[in-house]
Amino acid sequence: MRVVLKIKRFNPERDREPYWAEYEVDVEPVDRVLDALEYVKWHLDGTLAFRRSCAHGICGSDAMLINGRNRLACKVLVKELGARITVEPLRGFPVIKDLVVDMEGFFAKYRAIKPYLINDEPPPETERRQSPEERARFDDTTKCILCAACTTSCPSFWANGEYIGPAAIVNAHRFIFDSRDRGAAERLAVLNARLGVWRCRTIFNCVEACPRGIDVTRAIAEVKRALLFSSL
Ligand code: SF4
Ligand code: F3S
Ligand code: FES
Repeated sequence: MRVVLKIKRFNPERDREPYWAEYEVDVEPVDRVLDALEYVKWHLDGTLAFRRSCAHGICGSDAMLINGRNRLACKVLVKELGARITVEPLRGFPVIKDLVVDMEGFFAKYRAIKPYLINDEPPPETERRQSPEERARFDDTTKCILCAACTTSCPSFWANGEYIGPAAIVNAHRFIFDSRDRGAAERLAVLNARLGVWRCRTIFNCVEACPRGIDVTRAIAEVKRALLFSSL
C-alpha cells in the first residue's frame, strides 16, 4: 500500500519555524511507522532525524506523536493508521531536530526520585528475600521503559513543564512499594513538593499513552495515598 507520511520537521540551525514535509512511501500493511520513517531517511531524505534503537518496543527511544497520539513508532502498524499518517515530536520538550527532543529535564526528574534500591542495613547471609506477594505489589511499575509518552501527554505537564510528571512517579512507585527498600520517605518528600504528585489532576491521558499498559493513574493514586498516610 502507498501512504503519505506527513512529518513535522525543524532544524534549529536552518529553520525559523517548524514546517510539514510530505513523503510518499510504498509499504507493506504490516510494516511499522518506524519502517516508513527509515524508508524516508534511507531513500528520500537522509537529513531526517529521529531516535530508535531496539525496534521492538523495549528501549523506549522512539516515542512520538503519530496521528495525534503518543505511540512508539516501532509498535504501530501502518495498516492501523490509514493512507495519511502524521508524525510529530513529543509535546512539551524542546526539539533538537525533527523528531528528536531534548529529554534531559525528563531524566533529571527521574534521577530526583532516586530510582535505585536504598537499604543500608547489613546484607543477610544470602539474598534479601521477598515473597511472591511482596514482589507482585510493584510488578506493574517495573515495566516502564522511560519512553516519556505518559508525561508528554499530560495536560498538567503541558501547563507547567516543571511538574515531575507520571513517568517519575511510576518509577518512584516501583521502589516505594518494594519490601526490600528503605528509601520511601526520601522519595515521598520529593513527590510531596509543590510540583510533585499533587499536580496530577487524574486526567488519565497517561494511561492511554503508555505503550507498556501500565496502570499509571493507579500507581499515582497509591503514591498519593502513601503520602497521606505516611508520617512525613
Ligand atoms: Fe513510557 Fe509507560 Fe513508562 Fe510512561 S509509564 S515512561 S508511558 S513506559
Ligand atoms: Fe496527567 Fe495522568 Fe495525572 S494525564 S494529570 S499524570 S492522571
Ligand atoms: Fe526501542 Fe521503539 S525503537 S522502543
